[in-house]
Amino acid sequence: MQYVLRILTALGFLLHFLGLHAGASVGKGITVPLFPRPRSPSTSTLSYRNDNNISVANSHEYAYLARVEIGTQSFLVLIDTGSSDLWVVSSECMEEDCDAVAKYLPTSTLSPSNATFSLNYLLGAVSGQIGTELITLGPYQISSQVFGACKSQNLLWKLLSIMTVYEALANETTGLGLSGTGNSGILGLAFPLEAAIPDTSGRTLLENLFAAFDADDRYFAFKLGRDQLDSSFSVGQLDSAYANSTSGFAFNPVYSSYKSIYDYWKLPLQAITVNSTTFNLSRTKVPGAPSPIAVLDTGTTLILGPTPDVDRLWSSIGGARKTDAGWQVRCNRGIIIGFVLGQGDDTREFVLDPFDLSWRQGSSDNDWCMGGIQANDRVASGDWLLGDSFLRNVYAIHHVAVDGQPPKIGLLGTTDANSSLVLFQRERGADTTSPVPILASPEHQPTGWGSGSIIGLTVALSFLLGVLITCLIFYCVERKMGRR
Ligand SMILES: *[C@@H]1O[C@H](CO)[C@@H](O)[C@H](O)[C@H]1NC(C)=O
Ligand SMILES: *[C@@H]1O[C@H](CO)[C@@H](O)[C@H](O)[C@H]1NC(C)=O
Ligand SMILES: *[C@@H]1O[C@H](CO)[C@@H](O)[C@H](O)[C@H]1NC(C)=O
Ligand SMILES: *[C@@H]1O[C@H](CO)[C@@H](O)[C@H](O)[C@H]1NC(C)=O
Ligand SMILES: *[C@@H]1O[C@H](CO)[C@@H](O)[C@H](O)[C@H]1NC(C)=O
Ligand SMILES: *[C@@H]1O[C@H](CO)[C@@H](O)[C@H](O)[C@H]1NC(C)=O
Ligand SMILES: *[C@@H]1O[C@H](CO)[C@@H](O)[C@H](O)[C@H]1NC(C)=O
Repeated sequence: MQYVLRILTALGFLLHFLGLHAGASVGKGITVPLFPRPRSPSTSTLSYRNDNNISVANSHEYAYLARVEIGTQSFLVLIDTGSSDLWVVSSECMEEDCDAVAKYLPTSTLSPSNATFSLNYLLGAVSGQIGTELITLGPYQISSQVFGACKSQNLLWKLLSIMTVYEALANETTGLGLSGTGNSGILGLAFPLEAAIPDTSGRTLLENLFAAFDADDRYFAFKLGRDQLDSSFSVGQLDSAYANSTSGFAFNPVYSSYKSIYDYWKLPLQAITVNSTTFNLSRTKVPGAPSPIAVLDTGTTLILGPTPDVDRLWSSIGGARKTDAGWQVRCNRGIIIGFVLGQGDDTREFVLDPFDLSWRQGSSDNDWCMGGIQANDRVASGDWLLGDSFLRNVYAIHHVAVDGQPPKIGLLGTTDANSSLVLFQRERGADTTSPVPILASPEHQPTGWGSGSIIGLTVALSFLLGVLITCLIFYCVERKMGRR
């Protein structure tokens, strides 16, 4: 749910201090069961406002959900590394979309505030009220507590109780499509800077939870699965099904465009590889960045990149065509694409399973599949957005800043290119497209770069209101630079 217009209207603040009771030991890692839910066709028309309508109706498209208890009720929420707030729909939401999911009913442990907020995502928007509640995540229970008892286990907590969910950008989307996936809200795991709820109302879930953990354990780890069983989300510990130590991971500091100010989980993207050949990318539009910047986002299904690069990439893959619904590729086109991420000695290539690049459309069209990489120039805080199509191919550690060390991302590749290609060819049949020349190098394109800047500018303008308001709270320059 990255990339997103977001207008901050949160006015008025209420501080609530709450205590965390984590059993006897502090900082014990937890594994939170993750439930991949197929996104239903009705919710999956991503109408990008830059004219790309990408229609997705496919079993490879999942929303990754986890369970949290709020008050005495249990909710499934979308785990989203591309936003920073926690919210669920409340009983006051009368939209059809809300009726299909669990709605929050105020309980005696709720402390409502009359501070309001609103968030605009690409596919919809939410607005409502801020309050605090008793929250349970795995073995951790966060209960209401008066101000001041600041033992190390005491945490600050916040809850958004949503009063209305409405369609925002396109009529053909049903708001955020909650009814399709069954989640009542979103749990954002990006940096506090991007939270729409001002930190004067309460800190983010991660900040609160990690306050109880040892510095070394202040991380969460993900493996997004390709089916119902193969997913993992853990906090403060690794899932031994995927790794027993961090030794195999490539760790890189999270990219910061301005002084140690962090907004999203970003890494430098050095290049892409097409069938092992290096495919160079065009210049970044992130001011001051040495290479294109990729944003990791579990809440987005696809990989999105700048139009010139994505068009050239599909031309280099071959057997692909650009349609009104975005790039499509012949379903039997089996090719290995790699993303070369990181910096210096810690740069590493992560290859994609060919199934993540070629999505069956669900229709009767067996020849053409939807491309897992699509053009989109509205990713404003970076150049590329690496959604689930990419993230299913890595075990990813997200470590927050500790002891003066920057936050870092550790990635371990989980896809074996050769065996994946064999499986792909077995299911999809022989590749009928002959090899095409790989257009490895971007054209010298002052115009391409220029138009990117203009788009960036219009995006920046649409954020003006949000920026103006948030500048009162945060650092103006950093926000403008980092904002999407
Ligand atoms: C908001 O809170 C203030 C005091 O905290 C109260 O006086 C006011 O009536 C509240 N407004 C609404 C609309 O509830
Ligand atoms: C979207 O909704 C508005 C207001 O209901 C309506 O005027 C408009 O025609 C609709 N557009 C489409 C494409 O359905
Ligand atoms: C981690 O260790 C356990 C127990 O020794 C083992 O069963 C598991 O396969 C290991 N995991 C990995 C990814 O090597
Ligand atoms: C996007 O989809 C809408 C509704 O299906 C259609 O009217 C519009 O022409 C499409 N836009 C493009 C660029 O394909
Ligand atoms: C994959 O296949 C290529 C060509 O068949 C071979 O050179 C390479 O060593 C294989 N890689 C792995 C990891 O097996
Ligand atoms: C990928 O590379 C291998 C060896 O370099 C070549 O045999 C194969 O045809 C290439 N595949 C495609 C789809 O270009
Ligand atoms: C790709 O970029 C690298 C590093 O800038 C450069 O050495 C290489 O020649 C480039 N390759 C092509 C085909 O442009």
